[in-house]
Amino acid sequence: MSLYAVVGNPVEHSRSPYIHQLFANQTEEAVDYCAVKVDPDSFDSFVKKFFDDGGAGLNVTVPFKEAAYRLTERHGPRAMLARSVNTLYLDDSGTLCGENTDGIGLVRDIQDNNSFPIQDKRVLLVGAGGAARGALAELVNHGPASVILVNRTFSKAEQLKEEFDSFAPVEAFSYDNFEATEFDLIVNATSLGLTGNLPPLEKNVLAPGCCCYDMMYGAGGTGFVQWAKENGAALALDGIGMLVEQAAESFSIWRGKKPETGAVISLLREQP
Ligand code: ATR
Repeated sequence: MSLYAVVGNPVEHSRSPYIHQLFANQTEEAVDYCAVKVDPDSFDSFVKKFFDDGGAGLNVTVPFKEAAYRLTERHGPRAMLARSVNTLYLDDSGTLCGENTDGIGLVRDIQDNNSFPIQDKRVLLVGAGGAARGALAELVNHGPASVILVNRTFSKAEQLKEEFDSFAPVEAFSYDNFEATEFDLIVNATSLGLTGNLPPLEKNVLAPGCCCYDMMYGAGGTGFVQWAKENGAALALDGIGMLVEQAAESFSIWRGKKPETGAVISLLREQP
């Protein structure tokens, strides 16, 4: 049996153990996966001990993704761009490797599960924290017509623009200097959903056929998904599909087998 875990703080409500157990059953892989809450001061020592004791792989969640990036000795290309790591494992020589599967999870859910190609779309990314960085690192690889970043703290949006605008046309705004135009894809990467609040967007940002995506999820949907539905979005999606897709990519890195995600997404929607 190979041991895996998700490490975070808080982590009690993580769905990752359930998702990975479903993947293990489906692929007939001998995987044991648990959730571990770690004190902020103990993250580095926990990771070292986990692998010293024979652990096979870790998922890393809030607030440790940047710490995992710093600890990683060999970065995958997506981790490199996102500057954060959510998937850790050792290679054959015992080197600590890290990859970020969040962005690919988001893009697979939008493009593959919901048949909404990002190519040539006008994208609005709301937020400029860790979640936005992970999303942007993958969105720019899929040929959007443009990406506008809007964030409460302008300097953070500007910083992201500088890092990414060699990959795609990126512009940065604060809510105050943002003049609403129409977008085809709007991704909410703020943590506002946790408090039931909405980003201050005008409803005229939704172009006809617009897809609105909240990277957050929660029983009964999120405020942003509700707002998108009320304002005529063609697709209004929460982050459950992304959650399952990023887990599938981690599983595939670790086990060399890509699990089938559709049934797992449906199960999670039935049992929020
Ligand atoms: P995560 O890792 O989940 O992205 P984060 O790095 O703390 O968490 O980023 C949270 C995002 O939500 C940021 O874009 C943050 O805006 P600031 O950069 O201005 O802090 C945004 N956010 C959080 N609370 C907000 C609020 N009350 N109004 C607007 N944006 C908010």
